[in-house]
Formats: sequence, C-alpha cells, structure tokens
Amino acid sequence: MDHYFTNNEQLKSEIRYINYSYGDIKITFASDNGVFSKDKIDYGSKFLVETFLKKADIKNGSFLDLGCGYGFIGITLAKILDVQISMSDINKRAVHLTKINLKDNNIKAQVYLSDGFTDINDIFDIIITNPPIRVGKNILLRLLLDSVSHLKNNGELWFVIRKDQGAKSIINILEEEHKCEIVAKSKGFYIIRLIKS
Ligand SMILES: C[S@@+](CC[C@H](N)C(=O)[O-])C[C@H]1O[C@@H](n2cnc3c(N)ncnc32)[C@H](O)[C@@H]1O
Repeated sequence: MDHYFTNNEQLKSEIRYINYSYGDIKITFASDNGVFSKDKIDYGSKFLVETFLKKADIKNGSFLDLGCGYGFIGITLAKILDVQISMSDINKRAVHLTKINLKDNNIKAQVYLSDGFTDINDIFDIIITNPPIRVGKNILLRLLLDSVSHLKNNGELWFVIRKDQGAKSIINILEEEHKCEIVAKSKGFYIIRLIKS
C-alpha cells in the first residue's frame, strides 16, 4: 500500500482546491492525490496553526514547516505573520504543490525536497510540524530530535500529536534535555512546545 509519504509518480493527478479562512484572511490551497489530507485541511494541522497564533511568544524570525505537505502550515503563518519561511517534504508531489501554492498566494519561501534534514543545513528560530506518524516511533523521534538540532538556542519546536499516538512517551524523551509542555488539547490532539536549552 502506498502511504502519503511515498513518491509514486504514476499516481494520477487530480488537482482539487481547498479553502481556509482565518479572520479576514482567505487562502486557497491546490491539493492532489498522493498527499496527506488531500481533500480537507487536517484538524490537527489547523489546531496547531491556530494555537500557535494564539499562544506563541515568538512570532517572527526564521521558520521551518517540516513535512509541509501542500503547504497549509507554512503558507498560513507566512500570510498572517511577518516571518521568513522555509518548507520541506520528502514527497515530490507535496513539494510541487507547495511551490504552486506559494506562488498563487504571492509568498516567497525556501522549499526543500528532503528526507528529514538530509538536505537542510540552516538553523531556525521556530520549527513547526504536523509530523508523519505512520513512519513509526523511531523515525518520528529522529525527526523531532533532528529538529531540535536545527534550532537556535531558545528556539522553539511546535508540533501536534495525538494522545493515542504515544504523545506522553515522546514528551518524556524530549523533556530529558529541554523544556517541553503541552500548550493545548482538543479531541485527543496535543499541541506541544519545546524550547531549546
Ligand atoms: C502529517 S503530514 C502533514 C502535512 C502538512 N504539514 C499538513 O499539515 O497538511 C506529514 C508530512 O511529512 C512528510 N514526511 C514523511 N516523512 C518525511 C521525512 N522523512 N522527511 C520530511 N518529510 C516527511 C509527508 O510526506 C507528509 O507530507
């Protein structure tokens, strides 16, 4: 079975459009077969962005949307906040859609086709992600720990994870070295903020 994070170039393209609004701001995203949550904005991603907008202390600087899919998280934050955004995904179709959506929404960003941080050398003030869960706990943890290595000191990693996807055990590991807290909870989704020590 093909998961959304594989690169299946044979998969038929059927572009569709998804609308999102936040206050007066309206954004349209092109989506397609073979990417995560292709028909609607994922609840966890929306909860992450809206919690960040309400509760984050740092809302400027350099941002990375890790595992950007068609670009919902990074493009929405760039549209609302004055941030310098980078976006990355392992999925070629996701990266292609992100580039289309950036152009259509008139936003400039650095876009990486990269397995984790393999092709990313920069460090960031904020890394924000709805991380891939189906890759398994070891790879998930590696992506989160590598994210911490790509933060500036006092930089923040924000992510969403479901309680039943091992949220507590991930938090226990991350908080061994860094301040890590659950900022919000809704429908079994946790929003986690880690501050790099
Ligand atoms: C849960 S989805 C979130 C997608 C998008 N951010 C959103 O909110 O709709 C996770 C994303 O991580 C990507 N991904 C999976 N493994 C990855 C890896 N090793 N490196 C980078 N991205 C990866 C997937 O292709 C997918 O787009």
